[in-house]
Amino acid sequence: MAANHHKVPDGKKALNLLKKSTRLRPRLAIILGSGFHQAVAEMTIEKEIPYHTIPGFPPVGVAGHSGRLLLGKLAGVEVLVLSGRAHFYEGHSMEEITFPMRTAAAFGIRDVLLTNAAGGIRRGFKPGDFMAITDHINFMGTNPLRGPNPPGLPRFVEMTHTYDVQLTRCITQSAQTCGIKLHKGVYIAVSGPCYETPAEIRAFGKMGADAVGMSTVPEAIVARHHGLRVAGISCITNIAAGLGGGTLSHNEVLETAERVKYSAAGLLQHFCSIYGKTA
Ligand code: HPA
Repeated sequence: MAANHHKVPDGKKALNLLKKSTRLRPRLAIILGSGFHQAVAEMTIEKEIPYHTIPGFPPVGVAGHSGRLLLGKLAGVEVLVLSGRAHFYEGHSMEEITFPMRTAAAFGIRDVLLTNAAGGIRRGFKPGDFMAITDHINFMGTNPLRGPNPPGLPRFVEMTHTYDVQLTRCITQSAQTCGIKLHKGVYIAVSGPCYETPAEIRAFGKMGADAVGMSTVPEAIVARHHGLRVAGISCITNIAAGLGGGTLSHNEVLETAERVKYSAAGLLQHFCSIYGKTA
């Protein structure tokens, strides 16, 4: 049997690499999930670092997720972009998949915008819609803070205000500027990799979940562990299992993500612009 907890990678090497790579010291980090990668095309990139060259960064496996850390500006605002993420369902430990978030925190990031693709549970959600995440349900069956606690960080992390109101207002205003309809709701994270059964989706709906996905929650928890402000956006790529009549496929997720990629990029670009002026 594997040990109860995995070793936390030593973050010093990754941090030193970042510090040496750039003179930029962004406050904001954005994690790009499926559907949001087009934002990279709008960036002024100063430095691009492939994940596999950063000590401790997990490899990124799913097609359509690249796996590079970008430093530069979006809408004139300094930003650290994590393009692509490792998922729990790939077999990595929680410590491994959240290591990039811990590295970003050590680098001086104060605010983080998490993005993902998700299945729509709430009635009325349509593929291609966007949802600002107002709260989450951790249904992954484990927690990234399990195990020894790093010195100086709280053992019991407060989660009442996980999704920051001011940052979420930047998302709302950005959607208004872009003319994009934006829902607000609760994201439930499952471990995956299988999609849910219709019974699971009915149960999640009764629990209060509006959208379901396989990421984001570990990063949000670790970001709060470090005291960062967090916001999140889901791209609703499909109607969740049993609600839409048909069956689910990763292709549908990718097709919707492709279809709305310019809207998603605009949403992030204007988020940065508004963030730069207000936050
Ligand atoms: N379920 C879980 N994860 C997802 C889904 C879904 O329906 N769509 C995109 N990611």
